[in-house]
Amino acid sequence: MTATLTAAQIEQFHRDGFLFPVEAMGHEEIRHYRRELETIEQRYSEENHEHAIGRYLLGGSANVVLPLAAQLCSHRGILDAVESLLGPDLLAWGISFFIKEPGDGKIVTWHQDLTYWGLGETSDQVTAWLALSPATPVSGCMRFVAGSHKNAVVPHRDTYSENNLLSRGQEIAVEVKEEHATNIELAPGQLSLHHGLMFHSSGPNQSSDRRIGVAIRYVNPSVRQEVGARDYALLVRGADRVRNFIHFAAPARDFDPADLLLHEEILEDKAAVNFRDVS
Ligand code: NI
Repeated sequence: MTATLTAAQIEQFHRDGFLFPVEAMGHEEIRHYRRELETIEQRYSEENHEHAIGRYLLGGSANVVLPLAAQLCSHRGILDAVESLLGPDLLAWGISFFIKEPGDGKIVTWHQDLTYWGLGETSDQVTAWLALSPATPVSGCMRFVAGSHKNAVVPHRDTYSENNLLSRGQEIAVEVKEEHATNIELAPGQLSLHHGLMFHSSGPNQSSDRRIGVAIRYVNPSVRQEVGARDYALLVRGADRVRNFIHFAAPARDFDPADLLLHEEILEDKAAVNFRDVS
């Protein structure tokens, strides 16, 4: 299976700012990844840990502490699609598992990712959002507004609402027309691709299954951190001759103490960027 994009798909991505569904892997393989994630969650809940597991799954740097996350970042099917948009040299800058339990009411308000990353308004980035369970309007799939990536970063405000999966409960401060949004329905093993300036949101999970998606943020080596003192990435394909990012190695085991220390450093550096204008 190859997920290399056709010329028509690439054109569609540039026009709409998103593309879906892209077949990244088969049923058996995606079932395996879901099982592995749920085994990690189960084991973690039975052990004593300082932090809730969300610090790692949702914090943006799961690939520092979980081999599973690093493997997903390096998955051939995903990388073939991403290479079609960003070229042969690829860095995984971040990865988050967005999990909505049935009926937990969690949502994501309308926002643009690049508002918070300190990477400027570069087009040398893309998010691959891989479904580990069915993403449907009932389970709270993402919603995109076609062409909205042609906006610059628009004003956002922080709500800090409890039900928001975003760290600051951030949302776009201007009205987004819901009727212009597209539901990004995905079967397990399929992914969507979206530009970091895309207006996007998602509703609550009203299905009986967990809604599990993993968002992997890819950049090419020309991107650089413009706000923070330093930034980190996992080289997953080709080479990085520019070295704007500090490279870390894929972890060898779950939650290794040395990896946990690095994870805390990275989280601190990322928070300094994400929360820079919060007083
Ligand atoms: Ni987002």
